Amino acid sequence: MSTANKNFFITTPIYYVNDTPHIGHAYTTILSDVLTRFHKLAGENTFFLTGTDEHGQKVQQAADKRGTSPQEHTDIFSKRFKEAWGEINIGFDKFIRTTDPEHIAFVQKMVQALWDKGQIYEKEYEGLYSVGEERFFSEKELVNGMDPVSGRPVERVTEKNYFFRMSAYQDWLVKYIEEHPDFILPDFRRNEVLGFLRQPLNDLCISRPKSRLAWGITLPFDKDFVAYVWVDALFNYMSAVDGKTFPDGSPIWPADYHLLGKDILTTHAVYWTTMLKALDLPLPRHILAHGWWMMDNARMSKTTGNVVNPMDMKTEFGVDVFRYFLIREMVVGQDASFSREALVLRLNSELANDVGNGLSRILKLAATGLGNRLTPVPSEGEEEAALKRAAEEAVTAALEKVRALKLSNAIEDTLALIRAVNRYLEVKAPWKLAKEGEAGKAKLNSVLYHSAEALRIGFSLLQPVMPSKMVEALAALGVLQGATGFDPKTSPLVWGGYGYGNPLAEGVNLFPRIETAKPAPGGQKPADGKASAPADPFSLIHLKVARVEAVEDHPNADSLYVLRLKIGEEERTVCAGLKKHLTPEELKGRDVVVVYNLKPANLRGVESKGMILAAEGEGGKVIPVSPDGAAPGDDVTAEGTPPAPKSDLTMKEFEKAPLTVRSGTVFYRDRPLRSPKGPISAKAQDGTVVR
Ligand code: MSP
Repeated sequence: MSTANKNFFITTPIYYVNDTPHIGHAYTTILSDVLTRFHKLAGENTFFLTGTDEHGQKVQQAADKRGTSPQEHTDIFSKRFKEAWGEINIGFDKFIRTTDPEHIAFVQKMVQALWDKGQIYEKEYEGLYSVGEERFFSEKELVNGMDPVSGRPVERVTEKNYFFRMSAYQDWLVKYIEEHPDFILPDFRRNEVLGFLRQPLNDLCISRPKSRLAWGITLPFDKDFVAYVWVDALFNYMSAVDGKTFPDGSPIWPADYHLLGKDILTTHAVYWTTMLKALDLPLPRHILAHGWWMMDNARMSKTTGNVVNPMDMKTEFGVDVFRYFLIREMVVGQDASFSREALVLRLNSELANDVGNGLSRILKLAATGLGNRLTPVPSEGEEEAALKRAAEEAVTAALEKVRALKLSNAIEDTLALIRAVNRYLEVKAPWKLAKEGEAGKAKLNSVLYHSAEALRIGFSLLQPVMPSKMVEALAALGVLQGATGFDPKTSPLVWGGYGYGNPLAEGVNLFPRIETAKPAPGGQKPADGKASAPADPFSLIHLKVARVEAVEDHPNADSLYVLRLKIGEEERTVCAGLKKHLTPEELKGRDVVVVYNLKPANLRGVESKGMILAAEGEGGKVIPVSPDGAAPGDDVTAEGTPPAPKSDLTMKEFEKAPLTVRSGTVFYRDRPLRSPKGPISAKAQDGTVVR
């Protein structure tokens, strides 16, 4: 991602105009926007395409229902999408409408080319047609011989149609997907497509007779037919950029990424790809299918009535918090569950506690001690050099994750940097320096400059996700050259890249906390506004990273292994009920997380000191959670929970602190567990209990 002058073209699906924009549409569009902004940040030329899919039966029906013409209907609804994207800060380069005359002409050209190449043929089709539903049903689909949707009779109809020779490309497509493992992402979706392709592939009916459906693009070689809406829609990706080039002169097509939901993967991976092949046109480089936003275990959609209107969320929490939540919460590829509560947790624990707090501390101290001015200084002290290194490592790690489409993890890397700044401030206690008058001033400047610089880099990494808030934050630090953005000559991700010419702002509260529960009646509220917390059950637990050095069968218990663990310099024996789930080879050498202060127990004659944390994953297999990248002996903590471990912790005390999996990470309530190297991950579904 760091190679400058690369070109990057990304697309979203074009949305049907029979619906108003909802979270499913908003997510794909925000994801594309965030990726585009990251690629821009890395110095690339970008092109971001979105738009609306305006032909077809559903649109015609929706227009009929409203008593308008399809064109009037699409004009209104397409505008709604465009406006919605404006309101959530989407910086697309082109918004295509399939009713654009250029698009219509392009589709006709392509369909004609397929016809000329002999890739389309005409065939009589006999089927069971429902006039009410305006579609064919197979014999199997009928209920008591009637249309299964409306319950009305069906007619046997013979109809002429045009077919694309898709079946001729089946072997080629299988081979192509196998030879290009990153063509369809994530890999389990690629396997699904390959699975689908194990069945014989039919030819694709690409026409609809005008007598049934008039709202479409007329086929150039038969004026009585319109193009099937998917054929029309898929060509948007090319028609929108036809003849357009990047600044270096290279054509915009092919796309680097087609982003889409898993429900429309086949149309892209099979229909689109084979049509392009038949036309000898370049294929998109990657097709990325993301999961669905769910609510109460149902996909969020208009038909199920559980849609969240992105605009409502925007009004309540602000655009950037909404964007942040969607990108942070969903592991790209998997389903995620949406709740207001989860959003508030992220807002309070990450944005208010870490990001906002870091900034306001610096601003306060710079106001009292330095007259709102910072002067850049070299990083001479050990802690300063470490902070600078942390910033540089965060940039490399985060951009690496973005390239791997692990945006939630990229945010995690950035948060780790911001937390390092907060820790540095605690160690350096600059509020004491502020009281030392002139003598403390230079030291105070150095501490605040280093904190500000590391934060500035963190904010720059968050800017693709939260464009407005981060511009506000950067401006508050006094680093922006002008309201429009960065000085293009210097990368915002380089330490010392900017001067601190402008004064720092005062009294900025970037992310006000949302109070979730009222303080207990009569409870004390300290001056800083935070309710006094009762002892937290997690504080009593001491978790550490351990390496499995040896695995033996338990002499007296069939389900247990006896493991020898290395925890820093220390060696320990722990019994674990993992025999059903993992082989000794799978366990040996693995890094795990152990409850370090658990009261030793004698398990059928073997003394076990501690317990390995594990979660039940796919197929009921129990797998230890993983402290990715951390070293044996490292502590594992829950963010914002100061440790106060108790010796000889009982199982009962341990169980008072519920640990669960969310988006592949282990959480204590709303707080992710982490080692110094990052979050503790678990291969288990959301909500799985870790013990
Ligand atoms: N018009 C077609 C796409 C043509 S692209 C050449 C279409 N439109 S759509 O409006 O119905 O859906 C657009 C996208 O929204 C799909 O990628 C779909 O997966 C996504 N989503 C709709 N509901 C969703 C969720 N609840 N969660 C996440 N995305 C989902 O299909």
